[in-house]
Amino acid sequence: MAVEKRIEERLEELNRRREQSRLGGGLKRIEQQHNKGKLTARERIEFLLDPNSFQELDPFVTSWAADTEQGSRVYPGDAVVTGFGKVNGRLTYVYAQDFTVLGGSLSEAVAEKICKVMDMAIKNGAPVIGLNDSGGARIQEGVVSLAGYGELFFRNTMASGVVPQISVILGPCAGGAVYSPAITEFVFMTQGLGQMYITGPDVIKAATGEVVTHETLGGAESHASMSGVAHFAYPSEQECLSEVRRLLAFLPQNNMDDPPFVPPYDDPSRTDDTLSHIIPDDLVKAYNMREVINRIVDDGDFMEVHAQYAQNIIIGLARMGGFPIGIVAQQPLFLAGVLDIDASVKAARFVRFCDSFNIPILTLVDVPGFLPGTDQEHRGIIRHGAKLIYAYAEATVPKITVLVRKAYGGAYLVMGSKHLRADVNLAWPTAEIAVMGPEGAVGVLHKDELASSDNPEELKARLVQEYRSRWANPYVAAGRGYVDDVINPAETRPRVVKALEMLQNKRDSMPPKKHGNIPL
Ligand code: HXC
Repeated sequence: MAVEKRIEERLEELNRRREQSRLGGGLKRIEQQHNKGKLTARERIEFLLDPNSFQELDPFVTSWAADTEQGSRVYPGDAVVTGFGKVNGRLTYVYAQDFTVLGGSLSEAVAEKICKVMDMAIKNGAPVIGLNDSGGARIQEGVVSLAGYGELFFRNTMASGVVPQISVILGPCAGGAVYSPAITEFVFMTQGLGQMYITGPDVIKAATGEVVTHETLGGAESHASMSGVAHFAYPSEQECLSEVRRLLAFLPQNNMDDPPFVPPYDDPSRTDDTLSHIIPDDLVKAYNMREVINRIVDDGDFMEVHAQYAQNIIIGLARMGGFPIGIVAQQPLFLAGVLDIDASVKAARFVRFCDSFNIPILTLVDVPGFLPGTDQEHRGIIRHGAKLIYAYAEATVPKITVLVRKAYGGAYLVMGSKHLRADVNLAWPTAEIAVMGPEGAVGVLHKDELASSDNPEELKARLVQEYRSRWANPYVAAGRGYVDDVINPAETRPRVVKALEMLQNKRDSMPPKKHGNIPL
């Protein structure tokens, strides 16, 4: 005969089990986590999501290995907390690896829990945020935990371009585990705590003899400034998670959704006379393109992506007239804004991101060309530069380009030119659009003349001046319709907002194909 239980007893059991699950690896481990300066998985989720919005899934899932001789302890929920909630009032899926349970290592059960929320995110069209803090594949589960990573990579790839995926690295992320975040849209890291590498310092020392610290090898600074693996790096977990919320506010829920319009406080027709004087009279002098951006976007609010990496190009998100936009712009303060391999790849991936999620692209151009030299040629500037051409050409979102100053040669074409399907191309009167810069062009066209001249410097100066007034201005391009209008820089904001409004119902498509073959 079945033993009857009163509902009170059943509820008591439920509460007891839930409490056990909530404690993860236990109070001692939670204390250790705090002593390292880290929040627990649950504290992170609470901080990330809107208050009281988190709904947990699978708090009672356990690892099969826990009941066998491979593992001795049962942790309800295992080493990850998963579920859904709201960010800025919008549905968001989340998983947070729990380092207090076996170092947050990935068991089959952990992988299944993560896959469940990813499948839900894809089916229901909402972003998925992964909070990573893990010792990697659960050693006790061998190849089964490796298979779990495979399932994750597969879902990351299926979700790519369907729902925004964001990875936050708040602790170790080692071995092949790094490839899940690498497939996602954006990687955030905490400085001093978040680390990513495919092999740790010990393995490196054994394999090559090289001695390196965890932080130098795979810390936030290295990945944000040198490898480009991290898009954002912040000193604290709280800042990291707050910035994830800020980023989500610019993004649509999925690829079928529009990015969220927010009625602007900042007057869309606001002009700014400072912009008319921002380009130095001496045309080889630099200025700060970030100031141009801050002056034209709503409330000066620009969320820069990859701020420390390939600083000769600026990418990031903002709003203009309330519409979210992606901005790609040269930074003349670094390498004169030249396009090199890193800048090309950085911008190409961002253009493709914007295109996948229906975010219009504003391009601000001041580019002297692609960086010449054997180093760049031998490392494949041709292949990498082609990525940027490809990304701009295939993007069907509204594309607005403002030629601020230099736009020479192939770099003119690649940076959102009319010829790559840009919708509205505007130029400041300071724009110079030509096959190459005046000095280089005069050297080619007048080589013999200059060689035989008594006063080659004076002759060259005169020829450069002639070339500049003949070609290095926006009016030849405007005369062909490659530039739709030449505008007073002060009017940049209202002109771009009007173009964005005009393009709201843009429809454009690619010829039918399985997928293109971007030169990777
Ligand atoms: C099982 C693990 C574990 C793992 C850590 N633990 N990593 N258990 N599988 N992968 C356990 C530890 O045994 C320990 O349990 C607890 O988690 C905390 O770990 P500590 O070492 O005490 O913490 P800490 O000193 O902070 O060091 C953290 C660490 C270190 C740097 C992550 O634990 C570590 O190096 N772990 C192994 C990392 C690794 O090589 N993973 C495999 C990578 S390859 P107890 O109970 O003893 O306290 C990989 C392949 C993926 O992941 C491939 C995908 C394609």
